Amino acid sequence: MKQLIELISEEVKEAFNKAGYNPDYGKTNLSNRPDLCEFQCNGAMAAAKEYHKAPIAIAEDVVTQLEGNAMFSEVEAVKPGFLNFRIAEEFLGEYVGGMLKDERFGLEKTNKPLTIMIDYGGPNVAKPLHVGHLRSAVIGESVKRISRFMGHNVIGDVHLGDWGLQMGLIITELKLRKPELVYFDESYDGDYPDDAPFTLAELEEIYPTASGKSKEDEDYKEAALQATKELQAGRKGYRALLNHILTISVTDLKKNYEKLNVSFDLWKGESDAQEYIADMVQDMKDKGLAYESEGALVVDVKEDTDKKEVPPCMILKSDGASLYTTTDLATLVWRVNDYNPDRVIYVVDNRQEMHFVQVFRCAKKAGIVKEDTSLEFLGFGTMNGLDGKPFKTRDGGVMRLEYLLNDTNEKMYSKITDNNNMTDVEAKEVASIVSLAAIKYGDLSNQASKDYIFDIDKFTSSEGNTGPYILYTIVRIKSILNKYLEGLTIKSILNKYAKEPLYDLPDELHINAPDNESSKKLMLELVKFQNAILSAYDESAPHKICAFLYDVCNAFNHFYHETKILSCEDEDKKKGYIALLYLTKSVLECCIDLLGFYAPDKM
Ligand code: ARG
Repeated sequence: MKQLIELISEEVKEAFNKAGYNPDYGKTNLSNRPDLCEFQCNGAMAAAKEYHKAPIAIAEDVVTQLEGNAMFSEVEAVKPGFLNFRIAEEFLGEYVGGMLKDERFGLEKTNKPLTIMIDYGGPNVAKPLHVGHLRSAVIGESVKRISRFMGHNVIGDVHLGDWGLQMGLIITELKLRKPELVYFDESYDGDYPDDAPFTLAELEEIYPTASGKSKEDEDYKEAALQATKELQAGRKGYRALLNHILTISVTDLKKNYEKLNVSFDLWKGESDAQEYIADMVQDMKDKGLAYESEGALVVDVKEDTDKKEVPPCMILKSDGASLYTTTDLATLVWRVNDYNPDRVIYVVDNRQEMHFVQVFRCAKKAGIVKEDTSLEFLGFGTMNGLDGKPFKTRDGGVMRLEYLLNDTNEKMYSKITDNNNMTDVEAKEVASIVSLAAIKYGDLSNQASKDYIFDIDKFTSSEGNTGPYILYTIVRIKSILNKYLEGLTIKSILNKYAKEPLYDLPDELHINAPDNESSKKLMLELVKFQNAILSAYDESAPHKICAFLYDVCNAFNHFYHETKILSCEDEDKKKGYIALLYLTKSVLECCIDLLGFYAPDKM
């Protein structure tokens, strides 16, 4: 389906044409003065220069051409030369009716499907998830869903941090505690045990302990660096330990991400890049790109147009160990081999921007990716506390994601139990659905690159631009639709729909022309669906969908307060309202799914 605004533009262009002017001047936009009109075209002003004519005369010529046109209820030429339009109710009703009949509400899939890899989540193995990882997971999941909805082939990869010093630290600490373990015996060449020599709880305690010790004890740190290097060089016992650490961590991570309604197609990590490093480095040397500098191996990536200094990209440390850049480059090697992506999008903290500038330039220079592969850094800002500083626990530590989720859940639970008569089980279930929406919407409604303040009171409020407000609106619609269906006496319908949720409505419903200002306003918001999704995709910007959702919810609630729906006596009118409600609900649900959350049946 074409966008409504395109249909309008085409019609106005045709009128310019018929009036003897270049049709390009007929491009029409949403009005920025909704009090005066719904759509406007400023083309007559520009045309005035070309045709040496007063703009108002041109605008009037166009108005003449549009007289009696069924698309508009009002066409007006306004001084100095604006064209103001109101859309005809019949036409709008029919257009919105077309959206109802299409499961994608008129938005066609792309005719050029791309392969898009999204690198998000990025948790570090054996370290608990902290709130910094929240943003990556929430934004990346939404960008993935939006791209997939557009019809692209999308692969989400968690890209575990499993190859750095933290691994060496864990190994060092473990060796100190349990030196007798077979993993440390270099002469051992049998199979290693299937079960890990530690539990998740131990693992979570070992890392911070080891990290603390390494800061105070030089020898300890040296041992950890050495262990890291040996692990990276392929020492068998250490690789076996790494596998245990991975298995335990990944099981736990999956549980955590599930709570966030986030999932990945690939659970690859930095360590999976290892096998590609040697050839990649050799190739960079052969091409004369990589050279030695102060013992380390580097590639120059600065460009003449740089405003900031871009330091050389370090490929290997002087001791031969690989770095964060090395694994990111070698990761691109397998990504290209296995998936040949057109775009790779990295959803990572803004503070890592320089790292990605270096990696992207180096990857292009070394021919790891083709010149036209789009490597994109989707950087996000910091989540701050009410004091405007990075979010911390009360005692000043890094806030763990789990705690944040629990706090929000509790807050939501007490709000729900305060003013509702649900069973405790229901209230808990609803609280967890709504708190997820509160957190995700609170994050996604901001432009990703900006910092934002995590304000639990604001985010969990059912008023204002919040997740709970959106859900509240959906629940309100569901409840009206349910009442409507319960009231229907036609047995066949009840029977037919009894097995499914009651609000799955019969096909014969259709949307009428809007019959009051608020239903028209609601329809005019709904028709912006296509534009919202398309711009969210083009700009990797889920906040565009949030803005659309908020406008639709406001328009719906206004309509709801102004209109007798279920008590409407005119049966045909009532059915039309019900169809409009059904469409509104479906559009809202589709959008929240693209943001990565969902609505309960009651609240
Ligand atoms: N593990 C990293 C961190 O916690 C994020 C990984 C981002 N992705 C990447 N390909 N480097 O900072």
